[in-house]
Amino acid sequence: MALRPVLQFPDPRLRRRSLPLPEGALSPALRELARDMIEIMYDEPGIGLAAPQVGEAIRLVVMDTDWDSEDPATRNPSVLVNPQIIARRGQLTWTEGCLSVPDFQADVERAEHVQVRYADLEGKLHSEEVSGLRAVCFQHELDHLDGILFIDRISKLRRDGYVRRRRKALKFAAPAAGRPGAAL
Ligand code: NI
Repeated sequence: MALRPVLQFPDPRLRRRSLPLPEGALSPALRELARDMIEIMYDEPGIGLAAPQVGEAIRLVVMDTDWDSEDPATRNPSVLVNPQIIARRGQLTWTEGCLSVPDFQADVERAEHVQVRYADLEGKLHSEEVSGLRAVCFQHELDHLDGILFIDRISKLRRDGYVRRRRKALKFAAPAAGRPGAAL
């Protein structure tokens, strides 16, 4: 079975505000979606994927900030249902990329530490304080649920430059180049 494609900027479906999922265990259809999203994340490869990136406007995210693409045994995906950021502390700058923003990376300012809350597949609630890459990943993926992309958080000058290049690339329908580095 072919994996669903990851939607790419400027697809308007990336700009929708996603709806919360009902409390409690996920339905079989949503479990299947979460499984598919995990497979897509590893296949791309990326370290996080939010449901809107595969066309579903719901508050569901998959993430694995530890895996080594050379070693499938290191895979340890989390499924985050209705994730929320409860508190933010400190500041850091991180070079981000995104599976939905091809061929571009830029420095983004984020909170260094965030306290997060989410439910798992079974509806059990979790609370975590995360830092560094995992904190950046949470902030990036939760933005997707509100229709926000990392290019919205950089200077207008850099964003306009990217948008122009992207329009040109789409116009000439050039095949996508490889994407080095971690994509969220
Ligand atoms: Ni992303």
